[in-house]
Amino acid sequence: MKSEDILAALERQAELGGGQRRLDRQRAAGKLTARERIDAFFDPGTFEEVDKLVTHRCRDFGMDEHVVPGDGVVAGHGLVDDRPVFAFAQDFTVFGGSLSETNAAKIVKIMDLALELGAPIVGLNDSGGARIQEGVLSLAGYADIFLRNTLASGVVPQISAIMGPCAGGAVYSPAITDFTIMVKDTSYMFITGPEVIRAVTHEEVTKEQLGGAMTHNATSGVAHFAVDGDRECLALIRTLLSYMPSNNLDDPPHAPSGDPADREAPALDSIVPDSPTEPYDMQQVVDEVVDAGSFLEVQRHHARNLIVGFARIDGRPIGVVANQPAVLAGTLDIDASVKGARFVRFCDAFNLPLVAFEDVPGFLPGTVQELGGIIRHGAKLLFAFAEATVPKATVITRKAYGGAYCVMSSKHLRTDYNAAWPTAEIAVMGPEGAVSILYKRELDAAADAAAARAEKTSEFRRKFATPYIAASRGFVDEIIRPRDTRRKLATVLRRLETKRNRNPPKKHGNIPL
Ligand code: HXC
Repeated sequence: MKSEDILAALERQAELGGGQRRLDRQRAAGKLTARERIDAFFDPGTFEEVDKLVTHRCRDFGMDEHVVPGDGVVAGHGLVDDRPVFAFAQDFTVFGGSLSETNAAKIVKIMDLALELGAPIVGLNDSGGARIQEGVLSLAGYADIFLRNTLASGVVPQISAIMGPCAGGAVYSPAITDFTIMVKDTSYMFITGPEVIRAVTHEEVTKEQLGGAMTHNATSGVAHFAVDGDRECLALIRTLLSYMPSNNLDDPPHAPSGDPADREAPALDSIVPDSPTEPYDMQQVVDEVVDAGSFLEVQRHHARNLIVGFARIDGRPIGVVANQPAVLAGTLDIDASVKGARFVRFCDAFNLPLVAFEDVPGFLPGTVQELGGIIRHGAKLLFAFAEATVPKATVITRKAYGGAYCVMSSKHLRTDYNAAWPTAEIAVMGPEGAVSILYKRELDAAADAAAARAEKTSEFRRKFATPYIAASRGFVDEIIRPRDTRRKLATVLRRLETKRNRNPPKKHGNIPL
């Protein structure tokens, strides 16, 4: 056979993966094949494959009979919106996409390159886990990947898509990466599956209940996005990347929207209800302020009392962290604190300015929260905002009470711009709670306790539940009309582009985990 014929035959074999029957099975399960995923993900015609002809080295269990060039993973680099990105796609048709010594080495090779060249890493996971026939060599391959994930964390963005099984220790690579996207109905993640659980704890649980897309999006908080199908998944990764720089030394890419930076948002003037206990939707505030249609919510099914996500103002990508008074009155609980902290740290690592919208009556009271460790979990959000050196801006729309006032990117945590709407209430606690504590004896002795309470509450509200004391101290830089919020933030973020801020030199901080 001529040399080019040999090459063509090998390439054909690599492209056929585990063979037509298994490719058909993959498609029948509603999934794209590994190569189709790569093609759909990258800008057309830009993908360059690495190690297409690598094969496994296992000689046991009859494995020499089954050698597929590429060995179950398609790896390489290409362009996404004209910017270089490295990616691998596990091929479930080859030994169930299981991780071998050699296919791990392929993944490690592109991770090392991505780290050296400063480009994002995207993993398309669809695998039965460690290749059973290879034993510890496969486990070593996982550990090699985990190490790269850890070293790359904070240097280049890392995104994991779960597009099939992801079980056992294999889950820890996605867990270390920045964002995990799960495809509904076809993906699942767990450490030990339903059979093992049944044997050990006698619990009955389905794969979907244990580790399906909605379980990890709504309940566990392991995943950040749930999507319908492979194509939506791949399109979402492209969108996600559009808010991020390629690495921690680059600036995030501008994307002018045509939405004027000085646009007024009159709807905001009446969005806060007269009654301080009445909820409203903070999502509307965010949508009115950021460039039209630019908000991409992260973890939208989990800890919905805190909204986090990417957006743009005047074309500049930002990270938004906003209390949601429509859920749990906007209180901070364990899940919200952890969700917020992780997002803030991503933004800080990748030069994305942080914009906080604040309406928080405090941390959620209760034994579940206290015994669950709200002290150390709440401290995560405080730590994350405090250590962040990117441009920071906060707008207090209504309540900023107690410790939560300090936590939510207050002036005292080196926030560059703190504004309050005239409806802001900045105090140690809400008027009702304060009156109960300060005037307990008077209220107990009063002939008309309800009237006495109402009078004291309104007195307290007049005096303390306003933004004016904070403004007189310079703890808020200005009190702004809600309709001006977009214009003000656009100006501030433009000014802050040259911000340079450093933390004291150290190996690393010790965020309360
Ligand atoms: C080698 C594997 C494999 C594996 C699947 N296959 N998993 N080969 N090593 N880990 C092969 C199957 O033999 C089969 O080969 C093909 O892939 C498809 O598998 P099926 O079972 O037919 O597919 P399906 O019914 O869809 O079930 C998928 C599955 C199941 C749920 C993933 O295959 C499964 O339970 N696999 C084992 C999962 C597992 O326990 N892995 C180890 C986890 S521990 P043929 O030739 O028939 O196509 C782990 C540790 C990591 O990963 C540690 C890191 C620190």
